[in-house]
Amino acid sequence: MAFELVPGLEGVPIAESGVSFVDGQAGKLEYRGFDVETLAENSTFEETSLLLLHGKLPTHSELEAFKREMVGYRKLKYRIIDLIKCLPETGHPMDALQAAAAATGMFYPRRRAMDATTRRQACYRLIAKLPTIVAAFERLRKGDDHISPNPNLSHAGNFFWMLSGKEPDPAHEHILDVALILHADHTMNASTFAGRVVGSTLADPYCVVSSALGALSGPLHGGANEDAILLFRKIGKPENAKNVVGEMIGRKEKLPGFGHRVYKTTDPRAKILKRYAEQLTKASGSPNYEIALEVEKLGIAHYGEKGIWPNVDFYAGIVYSELGIPTECFTPIFAMARVSGWLAHWLEQLENNRIFRPTQQYTGKHGQAYIPLSDRK
Ligand code: ACO
Repeated sequence: MAFELVPGLEGVPIAESGVSFVDGQAGKLEYRGFDVETLAENSTFEETSLLLLHGKLPTHSELEAFKREMVGYRKLKYRIIDLIKCLPETGHPMDALQAAAAATGMFYPRRRAMDATTRRQACYRLIAKLPTIVAAFERLRKGDDHISPNPNLSHAGNFFWMLSGKEPDPAHEHILDVALILHADHTMNASTFAGRVVGSTLADPYCVVSSALGALSGPLHGGANEDAILLFRKIGKPENAKNVVGEMIGRKEKLPGFGHRVYKTTDPRAKILKRYAEQLTKASGSPNYEIALEVEKLGIAHYGEKGIWPNVDFYAGIVYSELGIPTECFTPIFAMARVSGWLAHWLEQLENNRIFRPTQQYTGKHGQAYIPLSDRK
């Protein structure tokens, strides 16, 4: 039977899912039926993770139990710290995160017949450990000691603590928490699909997350947040935006943080991050927000009609850099959030699993004659 080939699987459903929903025309995103803007205003990353994983908002005691469990899971095995120390300091933190996430699974070898408790523990453990790995790699590669997690701090607060050894500014902690909520899931994107494919083979959740991390690391996916801030820094001041963006358009170079397979209007997450970018740069005096506004105006004027608008990555980089986070940690922060969504999809995949095995349209040759090596020219 011949099927139509759809490049990039655009518009092709690969699963039934109740985890999240996007309306790309209206610019609307929901997790388990809750508007992401409502969650950003009222929830926490911890609560949102439980919502994604279990399909309902937790009770007070469920949330507190989760937070207590996370305290124990945040710590790293000393051999994982040793492994991180062995990685090249010039390597990208996304690669370090992928390696350490995969290696962590070797300490919990429950490859087959995982029961509900084992699965739940694996999910919580992965969500808890990712920030610790990111912060450990960032410090160790600069020659600083690893800082153990602080049991009294939130998930977002702990990340600042483990990066700097300082108690986080509550306003900054809140902004990072909101950013984590906004990035926690996004329907069937490349990394989620990668995770579901690996999950469908009944590989363990550490492999699922490490494959999703590999997919997220690319500049067409999570890596665009770094590229966007690098562009704003290169532009340097708002007056330069017209020339730089004009040249990029002339060279048919993609604007980082612009365009989306689903959104044909501004991404709702970008709108929220834009407010924080403005607030933070006003306080610091950084020109990046004003530069971004110019790039946004020029980008929309040129590409808006084609449905290419700012996506979540456009303002995320400004927010993170204002929070004092190193540029190479931007995509790892995305991963620290998205791990909850990846795992919610993994659990859902296993409920009604069938291994992914798509097909291809063969364009190669047939019936080739084998020429011995000695006779080949
Ligand atoms: N700047 C300029 N032109 C663009 C952009 C952009 N950012 N994005 C898409 N286009 C153009 C393409 O050049 C193409 O033009 P053409 O039809 O004249 O050839 C057309 O729009 C369609 O682009 P595709 O890349 O085919 O669209 P697709 O849906 O496959 O890709 C993607 C979506 C990858 C997000 C794309 O818009 C892009 O590369 N954006 C820049 C990178 C980026 O911001 N990624 C983050 C996405 S959000 C996320 O993953 C969290």
